[in-house]
Parts: sequence; C-alpha cells; structure tokens
Amino acid sequence: MIRMTKDQENLLAYTRKKVKVLFRDYPIPAHGFSHSERVRKWAEEVAAGEKQNIFLCSLAATLHDIGRTREMTGFGSRHHELSYEMMREWYKKDSAFDILTKQEKIIVLYAIRYHWNNAANKYPEAIILRDADKLDSLGKIGVKRTQEFYSNEAGKIEQDFRLKYDMLYWLETKTAWEIVWKKKIMLPVDRYYLALLKKEILPIEL
Ligand SMILES: [Fe+2]
Ligand SMILES: [Fe+2]
Repeated sequence: MIRMTKDQENLLAYTRKKVKVLFRDYPIPAHGFSHSERVRKWAEEVAAGEKQNIFLCSLAATLHDIGRTREMTGFGSRHHELSYEMMREWYKKDSAFDILTKQEKIIVLYAIRYHWNNAANKYPEAIILRDADKLDSLGKIGVKRTQEFYSNEAGKIEQDFRLKYDMLYWLETKTAWEIVWKKKIMLPVDRYYLALLKKEILPIEL
C-alpha cells in the first residue's frame, strides 16, 4: 500500500473543497457532493484492500462526476466526457494540481473518463473507481439514490434496478466483493426490486 504524503493530503483536501463548491453552485440529484464523498471513501477502502495507490484512487473518485454539473446546464455530451474535459481545464488553470506527475495526471484522467466503461482496465485506479462508484448504487443508499434521481417514475426505476445487477456482475476487485457479502448490500436492492415486480403481478382473468 502506498501511503499519502502531506502534499497529497493537502491536495486531496483542496480538491474536495473545490468539488463541494462546484456542486453547491450546480446541485445534481443523487450525483452531488455527498455521492462523490461516499465514492471517495469506498475507493479508499478498496484501494487499501487491493494494496493500490490510495491517493490517486481517492482523487479520481472525488472528481469523477464533476461533469454532471455541465450536463445539467445544457452542455450536452455524456457526463464522463465532460468530467474529463473539465479536469483537463483544471490542470491548466489551477496550479494546485502541479504537484502531480504527468503519469499521475494521465491516470486520473483515464479513471474519470472511463468510469462507466467496464472494459477500460489499463490502470488499477480506473477499476477501483468503477467498483467504488458501483458500491454507491447498491445498498440502502443505492435504492434511495434511484428514487431520488427518477423521482418515483416506476418504469425508469425498474430499469435502474436491472442495472444494479449488471453492476454487481461487473465488480472486479476481491475487496469490493467482500464488502458486498459482508455488508449484505444487495439485500435492500433485492427487497425493493422484488416488491416492485410483485406489484405488477395481477390476477389472471378468463
Ligand atoms: Fe458518473
Ligand atoms: Fe458517480
């Protein structure tokens, strides 16, 4: 495991504040700062379990959804592409990120850009970010986020629950799988999904 230096800790704290301010100005249901903080914590836990770079995983997790703020303001495009573009701008404009090496910058950009793509496995940080992001779509909190995001539109909620099982299938790290089983985070998902389906079963009439 690679421990964080003081400079890295400071950059992380600075970035979290920057992202918090961004989401305060552009609030996004179910994908705001609280989501980025939970994903960061999951990413740190998974990175520690996998003996990977906690700092880079934590940084990428904090930043992964910043593009959501532009998606909602009419920029179009998919939010991961927007997060990637925003991060490139931040590297250019904000000298706080100058402490990162070129390679570290590239890894963070790759992880952000492909946090939706289950085949993008070039760096362990990308895999860990995806697992962390998925973990926040499961459990009680994942159920709540779906309801919040789709404001109780039954059809969309059902589709989103199907996606949760896809996410479960594509969890890559041993640590994320251990979290799923130890914390039983599929239980609330199963319960809600089955209740949703059962509501659609009506008596057959001849
Ligand atoms: Fe995202
Ligand atoms: Fe996310």
